[in-house]
Amino acid sequence: MMFLSFFFLRLNENSLYLKQVNPRNGRKAPMAAGTAKGIDIFLIKQLNNNRIMKHQMPQLPYAPNALEPKMSEETINLHYGKHLQTYVDNLNKLSAGTMYEDMDLEEIICKATGPVFNNAAQVWNHTFFFENLTPAPQCIGKELSEALTKEFGSVQAFKDKLLASATGLFGSGWTWLVLNKDGQLEIVNTTNADNPLRNEQKPLLTIDVWEHAYYVDHRNRRAEYLSDVWELINWRAVEERMKSASCNVYI
Ligand SMILES: [Fe+2]
Repeated sequence: MMFLSFFFLRLNENSLYLKQVNPRNGRKAPMAAGTAKGIDIFLIKQLNNNRIMKHQMPQLPYAPNALEPKMSEETINLHYGKHLQTYVDNLNKLSAGTMYEDMDLEEIICKATGPVFNNAAQVWNHTFFFENLTPAPQCIGKELSEALTKEFGSVQAFKDKLLASATGLFGSGWTWLVLNKDGQLEIVNTTNADNPLRNEQKPLLTIDVWEHAYYVDHRNRRAEYLSDVWELINWRAVEERMKSASCNVYI
């Protein structure tokens, strides 16, 4: 005898379940993968289209071609449009249904490990990096200039040390200007996705030195990229962060 059955769809915040219900006893059993496949793919697509993901792509504060010729539209489209989008997507997938689901980005960075940390930190780092570039060349302001001179000897000495640190970073990572725990300006490197927030350092500036940041425009010439990116830094934003360092909100 053929049993009548119907599909039972249950949706919670993060998961979609498909069950086959026997109307005689009301028991639900998971559908065989092959049976559910077509419906499953359709419904998951609908779910992803309709769900408001917690972590969203940041808006670029300039047009994708605005940084040319120092940074090409092709690089922005790949670096921002593809790499950062992937980190955002991965973070949403990996954090859904976990203890990290309701945490903000900075809390995840300070508490998570493994893939959740890697993707969260890469979202934070890239957001910070892209928001700190500007198509309008700027001078370094008086207060920041004085602070850099006090710590490094001169603005030129700071530039030399920052770019040398970025040039010398082995593999993939980030070079930062931070305020350390003693309130002093410091240049630090982090590898892969790591972020100074984990060491109680307040980021003021970062430079992405992963190859994907410069390979389209500069191939393997990292020093050439660093020289160009130096001229795109939004120094006003760096100075404002330094002045409001008691605030923990950076993005
Ligand atoms: Fe990057």
